[in-house]
Amino acid sequence: MYKTACIFLALLSGCATFENRTEVHNDVSARMLVLTKIASEKVSQTVREIGDTIAYPRSTTPEGKWKTAPIRDWTSGFFPGILWYMNELTGDSSFRRSAERWTDGLAPLQFYTGSHDIGFMVNCSFGNGYRLTKNEEYRKTILQTAQTLLTRYNPNVGCIKSWDNRKWPYPVIIDNMMNLELLFWASQNGGTQQMHDAAVSHAEKTMQNHFRDDGSTYHVVGYDAENGNVLCKGTHQGYADASCWSRGQAWAIYGFAMSYRFTHDARFLRTAERAADYFIAHLPADNVPYWDFQAPKIPNEPRDASAGAIATSALLELGGFVNDPIKREKYYASAVSMLESLSRQPYFSDQIASSGILSHAVGNRPAGSEINGSLIYGDYYFIEALLRYKQISSDYAVQNLKSWRATTK
Ligand code: GLY
Repeated sequence: MYKTACIFLALLSGCATFENRTEVHNDVSARMLVLTKIASEKVSQTVREIGDTIAYPRSTTPEGKWKTAPIRDWTSGFFPGILWYMNELTGDSSFRRSAERWTDGLAPLQFYTGSHDIGFMVNCSFGNGYRLTKNEEYRKTILQTAQTLLTRYNPNVGCIKSWDNRKWPYPVIIDNMMNLELLFWASQNGGTQQMHDAAVSHAEKTMQNHFRDDGSTYHVVGYDAENGNVLCKGTHQGYADASCWSRGQAWAIYGFAMSYRFTHDARFLRTAERAADYFIAHLPADNVPYWDFQAPKIPNEPRDASAGAIATSALLELGGFVNDPIKREKYYASAVSMLESLSRQPYFSDQIASSGILSHAVGNRPAGSEINGSLIYGDYYFIEALLRYKQISSDYAVQNLKSWRATTK
């Protein structure tokens, strides 16, 4: 196990002396400072490069420069989200000013009915913005977006529809779990019971129909829009219908842990654990997943650092929900091992020439697009994981300090 994981476990188990705990905590904190500094320089550089037009970065070119996408692309909320997170991580107010500009540019999405991903797009931008500023206009935008997202909910199916105009009948993809966060949040912050009920129903159907017995997930389930029967199960971005696409599995861990956060429904917690157990059991030695857990030429297949970053952040949340200390340690230690690997080369790109933070991410392997460069959502969840790690490690340091004082009185 890597050093940071050992350090973290030492903090968790309380077996280190107080001096050691302080020392190792300082060690982790020092490393966080370096990662934060490099990430901060890269994000500032991106702002300088694309700030005149408020473009939305999506993936990097082979030279390491961001290619941008229109605001209706599913990835548009991540760069504003990164700016809010960098403001939170560094306290630098220039990030907040940039975050406001990039967030405001997405306001038209609140009326856009053409994508299930408005949940992602608006939650990462306006959602983080509201959390940090309590700007009332942001809350109203989120509520309107939730209302718009409900137009894609079909009560016969009990799910929000993912894609329009593709080969699948009423397709629902595992990624769509992530859009529920906006609905759950809106329902508790001035929205409606219908928003909550639709999100619960979507999570229940996904729990029933996307999971295999071993805890792995299908990418796509197609439904009959009239009677809700399942018509087909398969993949779009994975290797095969019967394989497990690693980013889809990461969305499943994150989506069900988040659903538990809002509902305290033990079924959702158990489902997050099943998804996590499968993910962890299928990680290679350096803890960064291959793009599909059954990709045919492993070990000569690309990794997907974005799947690793999403799962890391999700496991840091999940670990906080489980009562069993052995399970909690497993989730935290797996998260820290992944964070440790992602924080070093070849995944953490400390070359300032490259605008992306994490490289070796895979967008869509079957389509041959966005292989091995940086993806804006990989960077977003990596920074989120750093924030979650910082919070958890400082909470444990405080707890350990208190318990050490109590035992030495
Ligand atoms: N939600 C699309 C993807 O994960 O590629």
